[in-house]
Amino acid sequence: MKIEYRLGNDIDPAAAAELYRATTLGERRPVDDLDRMAAMLRNANLVVTAWDGDLLAGIARSMSDFAFATYLSDLAVRESHQRQGIGVELMRITQREGGQAKIILLAAPQAGDYYPRVGFTRHESAWMIGPEERIG
Ligand SMILES: CC(C)(COP(=O)(O)OP(=O)(O)OC[C@H]1O[C@@H](n2cnc3c(N)ncnc32)[C@H](O)[C@@H]1OP(=O)(O)O)[C@@H](O)C(=O)NCCC(=O)NCCS
Repeated sequence: MKIEYRLGNDIDPAAAAELYRATTLGERRPVDDLDRMAAMLRNANLVVTAWDGDLLAGIARSMSDFAFATYLSDLAVRESHQRQGIGVELMRITQREGGQAKIILLAAPQAGDYYPRVGFTRHESAWMIGPEERIG
């Protein structure tokens, strides 16, 4: 299988939603809200995709300052294409493009064993707050 990797966020939101649905990430992303999916793509400034011909096979969608921090929000590889090194390659390109930035992410429950295996270190001090929660 020849996989081509591309940089850039010019991706059809419906195609991205279809890819997310083809992985367990589809349960945890707003795949039925294409306006929100479009905003997620439009405002991400470091997007790497993997293509099997015309088929979107994988995505690493990040926000980066290209100097200190890259937040890798979504990593997804189509189930039919998993365990062929595509996830690692998407993250390698993300790391390369980020320059000196470190990659930060929140692992999905199913991927908890994946990140240590491919070189990530667990951080005990991650914190988050949802848009529906009040600060202060
Ligand atoms: C997690 C995910 C991105 C991995 O992508 P992938 O292309 O299948 O992974 P790779 O082929 O790059 O795997 C690299 C290594 O990790 C292993 N691996 C893959 N998925 C794994 C998992 N869930 N748990 C533990 N190890 C895993 C592979 O076997 C491979 O090991 P090897 O080199 O010894 O063969 C993919 O399974 C996926 O999209 N999952 C659903 C969505 C998800 O959970 N995304 C993460 C959100 S934070």
